Amino acid sequence: MTNKLKYFIGNWKMFGDIGSFKIIYKINQFSSKYRKLYKIKIVLCVPNTLIYFFKKKLKSKHLSLGVQNCHYHQESGPFTGSISATMLKNAGAEYVILGHSENRSEGETNNLIRKKITSALNQKLNVIFCIGETYKEKNKGNTFSILRKQIKNSLKKNFSLNKIIFAYEPVWAIGTNKIPKIKELKNTIKFIKNEFKKIFKTKKSAIVLYGGSVNPKNICLFSSISEIDGFLIGGASQSSKKFIDIIKNYYK
Ligand code: 13P
Repeated sequence: MTNKLKYFIGNWKMFGDIGSFKIIYKINQFSSKYRKLYKIKIVLCVPNTLIYFFKKKLKSKHLSLGVQNCHYHQESGPFTGSISATMLKNAGAEYVILGHSENRSEGETNNLIRKKITSALNQKLNVIFCIGETYKEKNKGNTFSILRKQIKNSLKKNFSLNKIIFAYEPVWAIGTNKIPKIKELKNTIKFIKNEFKKIFKTKKSAIVLYGGSVNPKNICLFSSISEIDGFLIGGASQSSKKFIDIIKNYYK
């Protein structure tokens, strides 16, 4: 097990209320101790309704908070029901998840995602940029071409690339208890890292997380893939115990 920095990012999706602060509190306590043993970065991406309250209550450097989407328009405007990157930043968000397949499935295109990333980066938010193929695309052998397209069409060469974290989330693995074969996953993560270098003509390595049905049991399987820089965890991040067990079991 290397001691390279690993990210454990929770995506709460549509979950949580004021009382859910106890989950954050417990994870924060765990993080304050565990960070002395391992190089870990914990981020919890919560609903917009909670970010301000959690941020005010947390006052901690052991855990960062983020949100799960933003509007493409930078500041304020006639966009009923939408929230801009500026508003989210002012409410305390440090990270924002963009391009999640649950939003892509509601019509979010690579082009729209690019505009949202532009907005988020202008506010100096860290972007967790999700990419991934559907089951149909995988079966047709199109995984790599889909990933390439998502990267090429959503990112621009002049972006602050060091503020972007990739999350490879195969759509068919989200909330299904299915995970990719370890060898296949290793190859895909390597592909994303190579593609990043090629497209942006850089020697820097991209940070690439895996997401999709990660739980305290299967996390041990991923430890063998040194190329993975961390995990984007959905359902299991809604429980402090499961989230903490994922981290502990990863280092077992
Ligand atoms: P699950 O961990 O619930 O499969 O969700 C993954 C995900 O969508 C994280 O963004």
